[in-house]
Amino acid sequence: MTSALLASLRPEASTAPASGIVELSKYARAAGEVIQLWVGEGDMPTPSFIYEAATRSLAAGETTYTWQRGIPELRQAIATYASDLYGRELSAERFFVCGSGMQAIQIAMTLVAGVGDEVIIPSPTWPNAPAAAGLRGATPVFVELDHGNRGWQIDLEKLEAAVTPRTKAMFINTPSNPTGWTATKEELAAILAIARRHGLWIIADEIYTRFVWTEGSPRRAPSFHDVREEGDRIVWVNTFSKNWAMTGWRTGWVEADPALGDVIENLIQYSTSGSPVFIQRACVVALERGESFLAHQVTKARKARDIVSEAIEATGRCRFSRPDGAFYLFFGIDGVTDSNAAAMKLVDIAKVGLAPGSAFGPGGEGHLRLCYLRSPEQIALAADRLKAAIPQL
Ligand SMILES: Cc1ncc(COP(=O)(O)O)c(C=O)c1O
Repeated sequence: MTSALLASLRPEASTAPASGIVELSKYARAAGEVIQLWVGEGDMPTPSFIYEAATRSLAAGETTYTWQRGIPELRQAIATYASDLYGRELSAERFFVCGSGMQAIQIAMTLVAGVGDEVIIPSPTWPNAPAAAGLRGATPVFVELDHGNRGWQIDLEKLEAAVTPRTKAMFINTPSNPTGWTATKEELAAILAIARRHGLWIIADEIYTRFVWTEGSPRRAPSFHDVREEGDRIVWVNTFSKNWAMTGWRTGWVEADPALGDVIENLIQYSTSGSPVFIQRACVVALERGESFLAHQVTKARKARDIVSEAIEATGRCRFSRPDGAFYLFFGIDGVTDSNAAAMKLVDIAKVGLAPGSAFGPGGEGHLRLCYLRSPEQIALAADRLKAAIPQL
């Protein structure tokens, strides 16, 4: 009976892949006192100066339907933040508030790819992006990043060779979850040139841009904003989740040429019909007053990256390079071919939970992903345990 019900569903829905982290997370939760480093978020709740704006809004009765694109105050706050960050004037008309970075990706995919189309995605990748393409009937086409002495690298020739007459878009996530690969400005210019040559869209996922570890401690990673020109086919997806410890608020934004405004508004109308006003009030405060909290998060992540990198290096058994951005360590372990089994074994012997690399698309198997946006004390404890346990795998 159940299989008949399932068989009658649209295959795009019924065959959507399950998250490759679920099995590990269930196993680790059942194991009790495990340091949980498999999930992509920090260890801090949302700060009070942010959430109090939401409670004030609720108390004031802001509980009704609202602007589909986002309240004007929030769109202006995003525009001011982004104009400052990218050093160019970006009007509020470019920004569309939606329910999370994930929904921003869904909206972007819906704009540019559908049944029979292909979307090129460098891999290892956050699996939700290819899944969003698949749900729309499009095929994700993976281009594996290379991993050598200089860390994770993109092969631009391989990227262009993946373009076919069916290709509609490239999903480019930099700094990357899970690898930490961070494109240089020159690489972004080259990727944009490929997009221009073939008439492709770029879905730019730069949500980790503030977490960047390259020379000179820049304020952000290189962005397509640094290389784009008027008329380029680029849609950015973004989120409040990571910078301001707001993963549970499920709010993000799409940035695109204002010419797309009515279309994007329709997509919001026919999904959530707009984000809650009280949440948007908190988001305004995050943007306007959240820089020192964010600076604290970045400093913490930088310290944690060094602590955990030293421990992994010290094992002498790991294929790994210090990531240039985001807050994940993605490392291979010599002799490990089944990352799910290895992750479970680490739960047993080290009481540390990591995400199996097999969850992150082609090129991921044999690796483990560790989220290090944690206090230095917790990361030091996890690092010690991993240093002792990895040689036993
Ligand atoms: C690369 C990337 N993009 C987008 C998101 C979406 O974040 P959220 O849906 O929490 O806004 C995530 C979350 O982990 C991510 O890693």
